Amino acid sequence: MSKKREKLLQQLEEKFSASGQNLDTHLEGLLHAKYINYWDYIKTDALLSLQQQRTVYPDEMVFIMYHQVNELLFKMMLWELEQVSQKQDLTIDFFSEKLYRVSRYVDVLASSFEVMGDGMSMEQYQKFRHTLTPASGFQSAQYRKIEFASTELINLIDNRFRSTIDRDTPYSHAFEHLYWQAAGKDHKTGEKNALLSNFENKYRKDFIRFMQKYNETNLWTKFKSLPEEQRNSPKLQNAMRHYDHTMNVRWVMAHYHAAGKYLAKPDGTVEEATGGSDWRKYMLPKYQKRIFFPELWSQDELDDWGIGNLETCKIL
Ligand code: HEM
Repeated sequence: MSKKREKLLQQLEEKFSASGQNLDTHLEGLLHAKYINYWDYIKTDALLSLQQQRTVYPDEMVFIMYHQVNELLFKMMLWELEQVSQKQDLTIDFFSEKLYRVSRYVDVLASSFEVMGDGMSMEQYQKFRHTLTPASGFQSAQYRKIEFASTELINLIDNRFRSTIDRDTPYSHAFEHLYWQAAGKDHKTGEKNALLSNFENKYRKDFIRFMQKYNETNLWTKFKSLPEEQRNSPKLQNAMRHYDHTMNVRWVMAHYHAAGKYLAKPDGTVEEATGGSDWRKYMLPKYQKRIFFPELWSQDELDDWGIGNLETCKIL
């Protein structure tokens, strides 16, 4: 027996005996086990059974599958953000590596949005969209979680209420003033539309727990915990700005233009969105002013958010 195999057997022996198990039993199990196949490991059958149309229009499949691709990428982003949040003794190398990964995923999202923008027949979209009311991508829980995991809560509060909210404000109160409440809440009467109340009935408790969890461990707070000299690294700051801009301007504008195309009426007015928001105003970054890392932008850049020709640096 080779030295390598001897060592492996010894390590296995140690591993199993440490938990009172018998290595021979495990080796025998190995003898009878089936080989793993690609389809077992990736769960392709389960994955490919998740595309269920509500109508007969073929392009509804494009719509469903691209949303699912987005949700998988959202999950990849959250996976990395979670690791930064849990990391004790955070180092700049670890932080940068995870940030670059998150940034690459959001680049894929922003640069692929033409799959929606150019990839469906207008005629078919106009038909199948009616079966989706009152649902909307607005109800993507992972999208909201990425926001909570990326920045401090105050940066997600509707601009109009920021001065009334501080770190002592209860989470439930802050929740009612998140910027996205504007898509479904009448701020005079407090009444919520189906888009928003259905979303909250399903996820409110989960969101409040998530907000608490990331209160001190979101990406921005973690960045601030790095030593000053590392925080001041232009390379790291550029990567942070790149992520912020791609997520909150580039993706948002690609999304807005797709909505503008599919929801435009021949007479120049627009259709109501499936979720029912005043979407032409609501979706624009210049109104939302959702900025994950405002301290990394100059006053001019903040004033121009979503309007000007913001130069951002590519990941080095
Ligand atoms: C042709 C395709 C699409 C159109 C026309 C469209 C339209 C809209 C509209 C009008 C809204 C505002 C809420 C409402 O009233 O419904 C919205 C929100 C949203 N959609 Fe889409 N959407 C499209 C594709 C997508 C895709 C592929 C995703 C990926 C998951 C997505 C994710 C979202 C998210 C996260 C929001 C909330 C944005 C925010 O709160 O700022 N949408 N969408």
